[in-house]
Amino acid sequence: MRRPMVAGNWKMHGTCASVAELAEGLRDLALSSDVDVAVFPSSLHISQVLAGLQGVCIQVGAQDCSVEPMPGALTGEVSASQLLDVGCVLVLVGHSERRQLLGETDEVVGRKFAAAQACGLTPVLCVGETLAQREAGKTLEVVSHQLGCVIDELGVGAFSRAVVAYEPVWAIGTGLTATPQQAQEVHAAIRLQLAAESAEVAAGVRILYGGSVKAASAVELFGMPDIDGGLVGGASLNADEFGAICRAAGN
Ligand code: 13P
Repeated sequence: MRRPMVAGNWKMHGTCASVAELAEGLRDLALSSDVDVAVFPSSLHISQVLAGLQGVCIQVGAQDCSVEPMPGALTGEVSASQLLDVGCVLVLVGHSERRQLLGETDEVVGRKFAAAQACGLTPVLCVGETLAQREAGKTLEVVSHQLGCVIDELGVGAFSRAVVAYEPVWAIGTGLTATPQQAQEVHAAIRLQLAAESAEVAAGVRILYGGSVKAASAVELFGMPDIDGGLVGGASLNADEFGAICRAAGN
């Protein structure tokens, strides 16, 4: 049985004051012990959030890491080893905002995934198609390519210590959620692709759905057989809404 997981990606949001308030709200949530809960603040606020969530069963991760695993001369970057050192356990790699707006290639995403694992962090590999790609009937091809690049480079075994997040680009921040059936189809294809190399890895890997997840849509989404939880953007900035999404994953 896969343990459900709900993760909040705070993106480039927050001030010291708002982050303190959000962490306080998270502390007050009654969370089910059957669900892994994680938050991804901006790098600037990671230590503050770790301190604010001390003693609470919520993991903290980073939204990105350098392709170089170890510290060195690389201005502006943060290495996976540094993230581990401050207390992170997870890191997002290949979020569509980084792929699309910052030109991150599959090769770079693969190197970040490897850097994270080399340091003992669990990478959360984000994959997903644009609206144009979906409309052209290329959804499964695009997602399979993004996943395949990492499998080819690192082997399927790498996914025994990783999480996958399917985030259709057209659903991110738009209020348009993929239907549970649309999401399930892609999640099943991701699992099948992994199963072609290792049935055991495929059965164990958690595949999260991301894209305008709200408490109201979470129950149905998380009820699908291959959807193991969510990667939540906007709704994770509200502790009560995020808590309701976490509860939906425990049902
Ligand atoms: P929204 O939930 O705001 O659509 O963002 C999803 C996302 O990008 C999470 O990584």
